[in-house]
Amino acid sequence: MQITVVTLFPELVRAVMHSGMPRVAESQGAMALATVNPRDFAQDRHRTVDDRPFGGGPGMLLKPETLAAAIRAAKAENSEAAVWLLSPQGVRLDRDLVAAVATQPGLILVCGRYEGVDQRVVDALVDQEVSIGDYVLSGGELGAMVLIDAVVRRLPGVLGDAESVVQDSFETARLDHPHYTRPECWEDRAVPAVLLGGNHRVIEAWRAGQRGLNTARHRPDLFYGQGLDDRARAELTAAWAPEALWQTNEP
Ligand code: ADE
Repeated sequence: MQITVVTLFPELVRAVMHSGMPRVAESQGAMALATVNPRDFAQDRHRTVDDRPFGGGPGMLLKPETLAAAIRAAKAENSEAAVWLLSPQGVRLDRDLVAAVATQPGLILVCGRYEGVDQRVVDALVDQEVSIGDYVLSGGELGAMVLIDAVVRRLPGVLGDAESVVQDSFETARLDHPHYTRPECWEDRAVPAVLLGGNHRVIEAWRAGQRGLNTARHRPDLFYGQGLDDRARAELTAAWAPEALWQTNEP
């Protein structure tokens, strides 16, 4: 997948995106990341990219000429890509949107700055506005990086274990189960005994129970979405009686 980020801060995007999972994706050829800087299209001596809003008001807007030239340059390089503007008024980014865009050949992410961008550029060149939450960031870069990180994990072959995406929270409308590593006892807190028993069937039942419990506690909207269905009842049973399961189930 080809991802082009239109940003006044390419070094910021590159520094973060060229580490961790995006770097793995790039080295495997699953993702190619490029940046385009509107400042490179400025014609004046000061390389101006912003201006005051007509009608008054605080802050500065990204000027249409330089931003549009940058987006058009991005489109020329990444011709099959949709153009998304990171903006607090966009559709909320969620699992479904991430999953859908991860199947596309390309994506152009436009990062606004200052008070926003000239509306005519949005009307002319942007396919969709996307928000990462109901709060205002000082620019779209962090939003673009969140989006890229979430998309890249879903590209084929990027996660080592093919099951990992399936196990991620939200794939099955359940949050994750808790995880424990050594030591078995830390500051008087013991690892749940069921995890030490070696019975993988029971461990998986317990984990499913914990996923249900976690979801009921933290996201009741997800857990009770369809009422208290059979799956939710089974999870709650497994969460509350893992030792009983452990003792009664065959290995
Ligand atoms: N730019 C400013 N605020 C934003 C938000 N909440 N999501 C995405 N981009 C933004």
